[in-house]
Amino acid sequence: MKRLVVLISGRGRNLQAIIEAIASGELQAEVALVLSNRPDAGGLDYARAAGINTCVIRHADFPTREAFDAEMIAAIEPCKPDLVVLAGFMRILSSAFVRAFAGRLINIHPSLLPLYPGLDTHARAIAAGDSEHGASVHWVTEELDGGPVILQGRMRIRAGETAEQLATRLLEEVEVKLYPQAIKLLLS
Ligand code: GAR
Repeated sequence: MKRLVVLISGRGRNLQAIIEAIASGELQAEVALVLSNRPDAGGLDYARAAGINTCVIRHADFPTREAFDAEMIAAIEPCKPDLVVLAGFMRILSSAFVRAFAGRLINIHPSLLPLYPGLDTHARAIAAGDSEHGASVHWVTEELDGGPVILQGRMRIRAGETAEQLATRLLEEVEVKLYPQAIKLLLS
């Protein structure tokens, strides 16, 4: 069985979609560990209820990014993951972390990369007058949101739509299908 470690910081809707895809048999894998940098991340409750191992490593407890990342590496490595899946994990990773999981480290980003790396992607797409928005699953490299794209999903932006509405629609109409699909592709 292929092994996933999923990193989250918040709500965990993408994590939930991955767990559901496994439960339905669409994805042949197991989540060996869900790791959060925030103890109050909603996704932790969902994972615990699904009987999945969870672990919290608070970034604020560490003096440097490197020290925090070293602790995460130590927690992840024993799981021997085939993929390390960033799912709304909102920390920039050190080069040591990226190197530790090179070729196994993926992220979902809420834009049609290379458009809009970084934050506020939905508002930026609207402000630019784009007719289309989307999400990208990509390999993680040391360049922020800059690694090679694996798969993208796209959707029309509606007239008058707010950034919040667009973010919700992107998550529910695109991201929750795209991430399990990309993971399936990579594991096959
Ligand atoms: C998702 O929209 C994901 O694409 C985005 O955060 C949200 C997490 O939601 N990720 C990034 O912005 C990464 N830079 P979730 O916790 O409910 O899956």
